[in-house]
Amino acid sequence: MPGSTEMHFLGFCNVLAFLFSGLTSQPPRHINLTLPDSGETCKMVPKEKPIIVATAFNAPGHTAGLLSISEHLIKQGFTVYFIAGPDFKASIEKIGAEFVENPWVWAHLIGKATPGDKLWNLKHIFADSIPVAHRVLKETLERIRREKPHREVLILHESFSNGLAPFVYGAPLPEGYSSLPKVINFHTSIYAIKHDSIPPFGPGLRYDHTPENLALWRSISDAMEPAVASVVQHLNDHLKALGATRPATGSFFDVLLDLGDVTVLATSPSLEYPLPEPKPKLRFIGGLPLKPLSPTFEFPSWWPTITNNTALPADSPDKKKLVFVTQGTAHRNYIDLIIPTINALANRADLLVVATLGARGAELPSSVTIPANTIVVDYFPYDAVLPHADVFVSNAGYGGFMQGVMNGVPMVLAGTLADKAEVCARAEYAGVAVNLRAQNPGEDAIRAGVENVLGQRRFKERAVELKEENEKLDSLKTLERIIDELVGGQ
Ligand SMILES: *[C@@H]1O[C@H](CO)[C@@H](O)[C@H](O)[C@H]1NC(C)=O
Ligand SMILES: *[C@@H]1O[C@H](CO)[C@@H](O)[C@H](O)[C@H]1NC(C)=O
Repeated sequence: MPGSTEMHFLGFCNVLAFLFSGLTSQPPRHINLTLPDSGETCKMVPKEKPIIVATAFNAPGHTAGLLSISEHLIKQGFTVYFIAGPDFKASIEKIGAEFVENPWVWAHLIGKATPGDKLWNLKHIFADSIPVAHRVLKETLERIRREKPHREVLILHESFSNGLAPFVYGAPLPEGYSSLPKVINFHTSIYAIKHDSIPPFGPGLRYDHTPENLALWRSISDAMEPAVASVVQHLNDHLKALGATRPATGSFFDVLLDLGDVTVLATSPSLEYPLPEPKPKLRFIGGLPLKPLSPTFEFPSWWPTITNNTALPADSPDKKKLVFVTQGTAHRNYIDLIIPTINALANRADLLVVATLGARGAELPSSVTIPANTIVVDYFPYDAVLPHADVFVSNAGYGGFMQGVMNGVPMVLAGTLADKAEVCARAEYAGVAVNLRAQNPGEDAIRAGVENVLGQRRFKERAVELKEENEKLDSLKTLERIIDELVGGQ
């Protein structure tokens, strides 16, 4: 029976290919095997790596993580197609990925929110991006299948990128596919599932299971339910129009966090609330490693002020503590945090303050006096300055928060917009930050927060512990292992 021999023969080769793919990262080696009774040889080539299709929502905070991961994967020999907004073309091409444009932009929607509709952004900035994101993802998958018909594909999906959901809920598969490629869902924020034992998403309530709090959490959830349901209804309208056969259920975040075969959180368990129940699809991979500066990076003329200070011995009377303050790239109303921080610390000869404005060419209003101990810069890589910082003052964007953790820097956090109150609450829960519980906390609160972090060793100690916990999880290697688990040996 030649057929059955061949089947057995192919199966045997595949098993070997799988074993070898796990054992070696060498370039493909050919190994000839002679089967005892057939005399035939089996030429074994370890399995080719899958083609990665990365797709992220069109905003820096949503794209940055996938860019770091893609850069790493490309260095390991993967081919990456990266779907993103037009602003990211240069950075995507720089890492050697193929840029695929998702033309959906949203800047013109800022300020258009219906008054009173707190979840307007989820509907009209995120859910309304589904039709275009879906079309681009589908076209990209079809093109890869046409151009490279024998290659396996893996989707690296940023949870807010929105192109995938219609497929998951039954919309027609891209042409040339009999099943959806495996999906790693990369989440860029806190684990915001809806559950009675977790404070309801939004206000950043303290994680404290008193009977009163549990009752309060439930009553807030109940009150939010119609608004939450209206977002999912809006999402389902889009899914249905694109051919989905089943509706999504739960909250918008529940839906996003459940897309894909594995959902990865680039953080460690200590930086989240305990999971209320086992989540087999969820993996904590640890924070992404620090990004090395580009070799062509030109340090500004003030940079030696920072490095000279760092180089002073700890007991030198000239040594200053460095405070780094930012409001990230999305919510840059400097009166909230940057200006009051500069003012609050202006007379402190023992401190050096570096403020970054989060946009190239940005400036503070000319009415702001820059004190002698302060350096203001329009745009600066956090990973350059954080290794020198003693306190990180921030409005708690998730990406910046995790950079603080990966640099082992304790924080003073003040932000309530989008997911920021929840990031602040988790940082406080983990013991790595003072949470000022305000969008514009004012000078006195900021000064007290900075003094608190500098005055209590436990903040720095905890920051170092959390950095080590995250580094041990070895995010990029772990992600490679997840890719192997999903596509290896098939
Ligand atoms: C494997 O077999 C092919 C021909 O069947 C031969 O050309 C090649 O040299 C062999 N390789 C090894 C490593 O023996
Ligand atoms: C930094 O230290 C170097 C070497 O001691 C010195 O030449 C330089 O002037 C210092 N720069 C600043 C800005 O303090």
